[in-house]
Amino acid sequence: MEQTFIMIKPDGVQRGLVGEIISRFEKKGFTLKGLKFITVDRPFAEKHYADLSAKPFFNGLVEYIISGPVVAMVWEGKHVVTTGRKIIGATNPAESAPGTIRGDYAIDIGRNVIHGSDAVESAQKEIALWFPEGIAEWQSSLHPWIY
Ligand code: PPS
Repeated sequence: MEQTFIMIKPDGVQRGLVGEIISRFEKKGFTLKGLKFITVDRPFAEKHYADLSAKPFFNGLVEYIISGPVVAMVWEGKHVVTTGRKIIGATNPAESAPGTIRGDYAIDIGRNVIHGSDAVESAQKEIALWFPEGIAEWQSSLHPWIY
């Protein structure tokens, strides 16, 4: 079953959006497989965003992510990477549709509340980075009602 890495960024935590965001993924039918409340340091954030190191916004993005605790999660389900990105909405909140997380709760691209892996391969890399200890194996008995 496919997995994705989802992170509620410091603004999402401090604005009290954790429950709402988790609820949207749960109600869709996805399964929460890993969760940690964690403040990361600069080298870790730079590693997570390594692909963006040449971008002009890189330093600001790193500062933002290390500015407070984040909620790091692994969610599982059929097509969870692409569907998760749809639930999150377009990167720039000015373009994200109402009904998406960013469309409903964000205005500025530099404070866009949540991160979601953009592909299965990056999800695997991000899960390995954020959950080096691995995640517990279990199966929800709700699956027959969803698939
Ligand atoms: S890019 O330029 O196409 O590679 O960027 P994109 O894939 O759209 O976004 C990658 C992450 O960079 C964040 N981002 C920004 N942060 C701050 N300021 C600006 N201008 C900006 N543009 C993009 C964007 O939110 C993505 O972060 P994550 O955490 O993956 O959502």
